[in-house]
Amino acid sequence: MAGFSIADLVSARGDKSLELWARTINPQFARVLKTIGFDRTWERAQGAYLWDKRGNRYLDLLGGFGMFNVGRNNPRVRAALVEALELDLPGSVQLGASPLPPLLAEELIRRTPPRLERVLFTSTGTEAVEAALKLGRAATGRPRVVFADHGFHGLTLGSLSANGNPEFAARFGPLLPGFSAVPFGDLAELERELAHEDVAVFLVEPVQGKGVNLPPAGFLEGAQQLCRRYGTLFCVDEVQTGFGRTGKLFAFEHWGLEPDLVPVAKSLSGGYVPVGALLMAKAVHERVFDSMENAFSHGSTFAPNELAMAAGLATLHELDEQRLIERSAELGLKLLELTRPLVERYDVVREVRGLGLMWAIEFGEPASRARAYRFVDRLQPGLFAQLVVVPLFADHRVLSQVAGHAIPVIKGLPPLVVTEDDLGWFAEALDATVARAQKLPRSVSRFALTAAGIR
Ligand SMILES: Cc1ncc(COP(=O)(O)O)c(C=O)c1O
Repeated sequence: MAGFSIADLVSARGDKSLELWARTINPQFARVLKTIGFDRTWERAQGAYLWDKRGNRYLDLLGGFGMFNVGRNNPRVRAALVEALELDLPGSVQLGASPLPPLLAEELIRRTPPRLERVLFTSTGTEAVEAALKLGRAATGRPRVVFADHGFHGLTLGSLSANGNPEFAARFGPLLPGFSAVPFGDLAELERELAHEDVAVFLVEPVQGKGVNLPPAGFLEGAQQLCRRYGTLFCVDEVQTGFGRTGKLFAFEHWGLEPDLVPVAKSLSGGYVPVGALLMAKAVHERVFDSMENAFSHGSTFAPNELAMAAGLATLHELDEQRLIERSAELGLKLLELTRPLVERYDVVREVRGLGLMWAIEFGEPASRARAYRFVDRLQPGLFAQLVVVPLFADHRVLSQVAGHAIPVIKGLPPLVVTEDDLGWFAEALDATVARAQKLPRSVSRFALTAAGIR
């Protein structure tokens, strides 16, 4: 196309991205980036690394919130996308069957327990969850949904109604009626809810993303049994935990579960194209799509998207070919081995936990410097974690994130292509950063005031 070039646009305007974001997309987001010093101009990315404009290399422990399991700009997923574009495929005929969606559906079904036999594609994780809620209600003829405290399933209104973190939902009510929370791990409370026999869906993450909370022993297996006993559909949200993140293709495999509904998204398309899917039992599908008249009961214009399907097929192939799932399990153990000693070494470190390459470190009030810690925590609960995230980035070039609002937890979701050396880089950086932050020197307290919006 004469006169149009993405490269020219980026080279002419790329330096001003933050200002442009602030003016056209979200000024508060730009403020946050500046406050925590994350206001870099990013130039390129590959695998587990990002490079800024000055050529500095950063280790990506954040992984695009978990969408880059096969690594950023994975060359083989990219090649599949280029090939799909060059084929001039028919794309969404809408009233016609194109080849890629059922091929990806078949590959997904082939990798899951026999109970899961149908796939409904979406474009995001939250839409896959919405589909689970909506289809679950129709399939059971029941109105209610039970979810877990601290759960996170997306930010559209249905998913938000099942959000166990009040800060996300508070200003957006009224939410959908019939949604109730139970503590993550409390089977007795879950049974009290399900025993009413009016609950369509129990929606739960196998490992909770907000905080990286692992399920207590027996909880998920017990929850599945209770769901079967009381006629509730068991919905395991694998949007974040899926595609090798926890050292299995799906986290539910750790407990031998056979859910009725499984929303997936994020890494399915290698991070290139928006994608989501709801994997479901045939019985659920057949009760909703039960006649020609009801053949279009749920869907969306862009789903399934042809490029998302091509990327999805290539991503599953890549996970197998590069043994990324096994790698996640092995490197996850290595990461725990490297970082668990911090619990002994630093009073302020409460716990290091993880499953595969879903990892977290939790802080808590230390015996020494307790008053300084409390001061920081009163400014903003959980702020100590930010006091580690900021220098990890500024001084050690490791991109990480706090694991949720008001909790002193840092989380890691690195691309599964990270190396052992990368994990060493991170562990050393973390050690040095925690050592300094624990002393809560004046500079750290000054930053805490800025971050809390006080100065
Ligand atoms: C467990 C879980 N479910 C659902 C979602 C929502 O996915 P999306 O952001 O693609 O809408 C997320 C996003 O972080 C998630 O972690």
